Amino acid sequence: MERPSNRSFRLRGTRITEGQQLALDKFWDRYGFGPETAINPQEVFPDSKRIFMEIGTGMGEATAEIARLFPEDGFFAVELHKPGLGALLAKMDEYGLTNLRLVEEDARVLLDHFFPKQSLDVVHLYFPDPWPKNKHWKRRIVQDDFIATIAAALKPGGYIHIATDWVPYAEWIEEKFGASTLFTGGVIPKPEFRPLTRFEGQGIRKGHEVRDLQYFKK
Ligand SMILES: C[S@@+](CC[C@H](N)C(=O)[O-])C[C@H]1O[C@@H](n2cnc3c(N)ncnc32)[C@H](O)[C@@H]1O
Repeated sequence: MERPSNRSFRLRGTRITEGQQLALDKFWDRYGFGPETAINPQEVFPDSKRIFMEIGTGMGEATAEIARLFPEDGFFAVELHKPGLGALLAKMDEYGLTNLRLVEEDARVLLDHFFPKQSLDVVHLYFPDPWPKNKHWKRRIVQDDFIATIAAALKPGGYIHIATDWVPYAEWIEEKFGASTLFTGGVIPKPEFRPLTRFEGQGIRKGHEVRDLQYFKK
């Protein structure tokens, strides 16, 4: 299996709190997995109205709030940072959520190799690592091949919702999606359902402007 040649994520500490480790020990086998064979989202969530995937859930604050808000929908939370996965499992337990599955994998690998085409209604990408230095721009997750991967994974009429606090990245996203024949959309007002995450709060305190963008598959 071919893996992407670059990392779109920053290597963070693997320091894990006792609560996060406890949640992993208790709930990982029930709600989490590292994919080994093809996934059938319909089988995972047979009664769900819509299937969502959030890419890069971080500490899972937005993920858990949104899954709580839409109990009739099924959510795949994709993240590589173990402490964040533990934090999300703890939140799931606190909120009594069962409509979430955690996937420990690079979202690009997951979508290209383990998910069926046209299986997602919605993709969320909140505050992707901005990689501000131009020598790192190739690490940004939003690239032409990523856009094609998302288009293939979405059902007809499905969409991707992105938020970023780095205006040059928002402009990059607008440029890339704008040049794509696969999507239509642009900047939107912040939807009420998207809660503030710690990461976003830090950006706002630094004076960063947050932009939400939404692109529908044509
Ligand atoms: C800046 S953080 C934002 C986290 C969260 N969405 C928030 O708003 O607080 C970006 C996250 O994306 C994850 N990430 C980056 N590239 C990824 C990929 N290819 N697949 C899955 N997760 C990824 C990183 O590990 C990191 O936790």
